[in-house]
Amino acid sequence: MMTDSTAPHIVILAAGQGKRMYSDLPKVVHQVLFRPMLHYVLDLAESIPTQSITVVVGHGEEVVRKACENYSAISYVRQDQQRGTGDAVKSVESHFKGKKGTLLLMSGDVISLTSETLTGLLAKHYESKAACTVATTLMDLPRGYGRIVRGPGQTISDIREEADCSDADRRIREINGGLYCFEISELFPALAKIQDKNNQHEFYLTDVIRILSAENKRVVPFVINDSKEIAGINDRYALWQVEAAFQDKINQRWMLKGVSLQDPKTTWIDSRTTLEPDCSIESGCTIINSHIGKGSHLESFCRVTDSRIDDFVHIKQGSYIEKSEIATKSSVGPYAHLRPGSILESAVKIGNFVELKKTRMGAGSKASHLSYVGDAEIGKDVNLGCGFITCNFDGGPEKHKTIIEDGVFVGSDSQTVAPVRIGKGSYIASGSTVTEDVPAESLVLTRGKQTTKPGYAKKYRR
Ligand code: UD1
Ligand code: CA
Repeated sequence: MMTDSTAPHIVILAAGQGKRMYSDLPKVVHQVLFRPMLHYVLDLAESIPTQSITVVVGHGEEVVRKACENYSAISYVRQDQQRGTGDAVKSVESHFKGKKGTLLLMSGDVISLTSETLTGLLAKHYESKAACTVATTLMDLPRGYGRIVRGPGQTISDIREEADCSDADRRIREINGGLYCFEISELFPALAKIQDKNNQHEFYLTDVIRILSAENKRVVPFVINDSKEIAGINDRYALWQVEAAFQDKINQRWMLKGVSLQDPKTTWIDSRTTLEPDCSIESGCTIINSHIGKGSHLESFCRVTDSRIDDFVHIKQGSYIEKSEIATKSSVGPYAHLRPGSILESAVKIGNFVELKKTRMGAGSKASHLSYVGDAEIGKDVNLGCGFITCNFDGGPEKHKTIIEDGVFVGSDSQTVAPVRIGKGSYIASGSTVTEDVPAESLVLTRGKQTTKPGYAKKYRR
């Protein structure tokens, strides 16, 4: 967080339940493009110089705080009962005792704003020396929002909430964006006067506007041209609308930088992901907090989370990759599962129905078909045959480690019972169960000897 003595204090309202979500989860932790809604607001707050950032929490306080634990520079104030936005702001009053300056008030459910808009709002507020500056916009369908009643000159005299609007009020297209600058010295005295005598029996913050205006204090609008920026997320349809707009913006940005998206409508890339030119992504992929290098190709319906995929990697259809690293020229899938801690060095091949966990595969190694490899160190140029399994778990508290050194060949349908080490260059015959360490350059055979009885089949059938 940048600080500067003329910078505002930011307060973010996030105590409400979000009744219109019909959810056990507090609204502000509902995810938009794989991140809690509130993260977008916190990122925005942290993108401009401020003196402090305070979040008002209440409904599901613990869940909200947990979801935001990575934001260390913010403080929390509790609103015990959610009695309206005015009451929520009152709960920070003691925090601002004796403080002067500007309070920038944001809502936890208005997440599409840009830092340019915040800076513009602040500039207008300082320049007009107003007691309050309200971000407004014109909406064709203003339903659900507070309507702006203009006063003389370029001022606002009142805000009418939808539930209390007359038919004439309802026709007003200028709406309250729920984003304001207040002079601290003016805000709290006016807040002390609001009442809950309205159709929702709530303490409306918006009543402060009428009170200030009636006291001849200046309340001015800051009109935002793009109404989408202050769309509030009140229900799941509005959430999808915002999410789809983010998706379009992110996908467009990557496509203009040389990334091919076969079907951008079904491709979901979160805001933390980075992609390099000439990577191509087929339909239905989801990429979260990851990096994909130059020339890499993802076939359809892959999900990549918290992972790093280098250049010229081929991920085949339906693969699921979490907290993993894949080096250049490797190929994975179709239908492979890389669980956390899978590290593929260059030119590794992971084939269909292979699951890896906490495993490093050395350069050029292969597990081409139907395997489970967990808690393992696999050297370079190792071949793990079809159906190979690391038995890493004996039911006890800990998993055990398997080490397979460079150049080992493991025949199909073999198992290693960990902890175990197979020395460099060894051969494990197919169908073996390896329970003891194997010195380098050995051949291991653990299966029973074959018995063949010629002609026995005919006799047996009789
Ligand atoms: C509010 C405004 C409305 C404006 C709209 C813009 C009021 C009375 N109305 O309506 O004029 O057009 O935002 O998006 O302010 N919250 C609390 N404690 C509470 C109630 C709410 O912290 O007791 C928080 C919510 O978590 C939310 C924010 O305040 O983040 C806004 O509350 P919400 O109920 O969504 O208000 P709107 O009905 O959208
Ligand atoms: Ca809202």
